[in-house]
Amino acid sequence: MLFNGRASIALCTLAQLLLTEVQAIPVVPKPDIDQSPAEKRQVRPVQPITIIDPATRIPVDPVTRIPVDPITFEPVTRIPITLQTIGTFETVGTIGTVGTIGVTRPTFATLSVPSAEYTTPIQYTTPIQYTTPIQYTTPNQYTTPNQYTTPPYGYTTPGYTQPTTTRTTTTSSTSTKTSATPSYTPIVGANNTCYNRLKIDILERTDPDQFNMLVLAWAKIQNTPDSDIFGHYQLSGIHGAPYITWQMGPGSYDTSRGYCTHGSNIFTTWHRPYLLALEQSLFHTAIQIASTFTGAAQTQYLAAAGRVRLPYWDWSDPTTQSYLPPITMVSTVTVTQPGIGGNPVSAVISNPLWAYNFQSPSSTAPLAPFNNRQSTRRYPDANWLDRSNLASASMQSGFTGRVTQTYNAFLSSTYNTFSNNVEGIHDAIHGAVSGGGQMGYISVSAFDPIFWLHHCNVDRLMAMFQTYKPNLWIAPAPGVGTFARPSWLGLTDDTNSELYPFRRADGSWWRSTHTTPVSTIWSSKYGYPEVPCSYQTRPASDLQNFAISQINRLYAGNRPSIPATNRDWNVRLLIDQSEIAGGYDIYVYGGTRPSDPYSDPYGKGYVGSLSSMSTGSADAYKQSRIRFVDVSLNAYLKEYGYYGSDTYKITEYITRNLYYTIIANGRPCYFQDLRTAKIAVYSRDVYDNGKSDSLPYYSSSQYYYTNVTERTPGGIKYVDEILYPIKVDGTREIPWAEQNYTRIET
Ligand SMILES: *[C@@H]1O[C@H](CO)[C@@H](O)[C@H](O)[C@H]1NC(C)=O
Ligand SMILES: *[C@@H]1O[C@H](CO)[C@@H](O)[C@H](O)[C@H]1NC(C)=O
Ligand SMILES: *[C@@H]1O[C@H](CO)[C@@H](O)[C@H](O)[C@H]1NC(C)=O
Repeated sequence: MLFNGRASIALCTLAQLLLTEVQAIPVVPKPDIDQSPAEKRQVRPVQPITIIDPATRIPVDPVTRIPVDPITFEPVTRIPITLQTIGTFETVGTIGTVGTIGVTRPTFATLSVPSAEYTTPIQYTTPIQYTTPIQYTTPNQYTTPNQYTTPPYGYTTPGYTQPTTTRTTTTSSTSTKTSATPSYTPIVGANNTCYNRLKIDILERTDPDQFNMLVLAWAKIQNTPDSDIFGHYQLSGIHGAPYITWQMGPGSYDTSRGYCTHGSNIFTTWHRPYLLALEQSLFHTAIQIASTFTGAAQTQYLAAAGRVRLPYWDWSDPTTQSYLPPITMVSTVTVTQPGIGGNPVSAVISNPLWAYNFQSPSSTAPLAPFNNRQSTRRYPDANWLDRSNLASASMQSGFTGRVTQTYNAFLSSTYNTFSNNVEGIHDAIHGAVSGGGQMGYISVSAFDPIFWLHHCNVDRLMAMFQTYKPNLWIAPAPGVGTFARPSWLGLTDDTNSELYPFRRADGSWWRSTHTTPVSTIWSSKYGYPEVPCSYQTRPASDLQNFAISQINRLYAGNRPSIPATNRDWNVRLLIDQSEIAGGYDIYVYGGTRPSDPYSDPYGKGYVGSLSSMSTGSADAYKQSRIRFVDVSLNAYLKEYGYYGSDTYKITEYITRNLYYTIIANGRPCYFQDLRTAKIAVYSRDVYDNGKSDSLPYYSSSQYYYTNVTERTPGGIKYVDEILYPIKVDGTREIPWAEQNYTRIET
């Protein structure tokens, strides 16, 4: 069966096959079922659609029945059909060709078209429509904007009612939860004064007492029952599986996704209160543990617990580079904990920063495809033994490209572009750390403790960008569906979108607007070394200058060189993320490539990649949406002596020396089989005085070199292919519409 089982979907060539086939067999019954008046109101006028048989040029009925041979169940007539939209909306020409019709049981195969048929309530209210694999795994069925022109029928804004989970432990931030009203715990972070979140290695070295309390607290919340809403299990579960509510009452939830927003302009802001929730739990738990010491140790460790903040892993740092922080790679850790009579005793415990051990098989049962794994792992071997050293090596191979991408993200001219760029770097890290472990799956990645250190760094980069560019902020863009908010056409994410399930102290939902300006982090009692608490009382311009100097000090290794005007070179990769099921990566190599990119994708020649994390399993498709990433070629060109503005020399060199590899679910996949994956090479002018008190900026023009890509599979021949990219359903999405581009045809 094509639609069940991961083996059949592992190759993107098969995924491609599926798309073609599914267009042919949506098998949508005419909505002749009796509908309630309420349902009828949901029906939008049917958009006129004509199906034209290109052989005869004769239009056929939108829902046409083709006789099939009852013996072989083969369609008798195999006619290619071209779908055209006419009438009230723009003529988009050929939107797809339906190939031959697959085999269906009845003597008639029903062919219908993606038209307003799909907008009737029966589509999204009938459970069978919503959950049948054929419906769910096909991008065209589930994810195209044509699906829902109004919020899914029956969907109500999630409300809040008394949580059914009652907290029994006394760890972490329970104090406010015991009162009857309000009956939720708001996400406010620590409750004392502002302390900087520190780089994990520096925390360990410079504040060992705080580090000790952090480890004790994290170990403790990893060992509370799964029902503890501020325990590691529940907090991690907000992100994806097990797809249950967190401090929210009954309602319509989309149990195919978690609360997290990915591929959205609110990616960075949603994760901010998310991290704060864990920090809040760690902080209060640390204080609770510290108070069980006695005497001088109690004073010492209570003070240390008050400083407990989530540390970060800076994977672009020039000194520690992209290696995994050593403390995240060892299975045990030595701590000082309260012993008999509250006296401090040294003990060796299982390291909560290395792995999370689930409480029981029932904890992992809903966490497919890891439902039989009782712990988190990175690069697990056949015996599920951890090989974090391979994760570390894989990360390190990407360092040069990563630090360049990190620096270039700060040069983004809009907030949405910054967010997309940072998310792209972040996605590739999930892949590089995972190696088949939980980190590569949106559904379960948050269970791996390194997830939190990784995301804390994303939050830090966001804070640095907010400091550097205080006037840029989230612009409205097409929204993404989440657990608490099903997707529908017209869903927009903007600064006021609710960041479910997190509540503010006043009971309202967190929204992105609460995370701007950057000083709001100080109100949540934390800062970063680059946006330090100590600047709270200083002029904003001092802070901005300080942050700029830090961005340059840390990440300017491959900044465009002095003097002033130079060229910056990039490969832009894009794809409709729903075209391939599961998790996949498109890698760019320069000059050379690993002899076996399947076992060593980040090896020799790695320049950068576009990653798409699996949402849950290898055969789960994502929402249809254009994702793109800019892979900087600057460092690579510099290394080979081709950096500069000699366009002929550089384009000629790039044409011959760039390689592309797609790996989907561990298997090869080819551009030839994909409709929406595109490669473009562009350059732009950069103005850079090379000084540490300013950052370079780009001209608004981008020059696309189709002569570099036109003979490469997946490479663009026309600039429109990259400026107005096409999605799997044939419509176009312009993910960077807010920017202005000048184009050059070659
Ligand atoms: C802060 O939280 C701790 C417990 O975690 C509590 O003992 C203390 O009273 C709280 N302080 C304030 C000002 O609410
Ligand atoms: C590619 O096109 C650009 C722009 O027209 C041109 O400057 C460059 O020399 C061309 N490169 C090659 C290798 O022909
Ligand atoms: C794009 O161009 C228009 C018209 O020239 C201008 O008003 C707008 O500010 C520009 N947008 C950006 C992001 O540069």
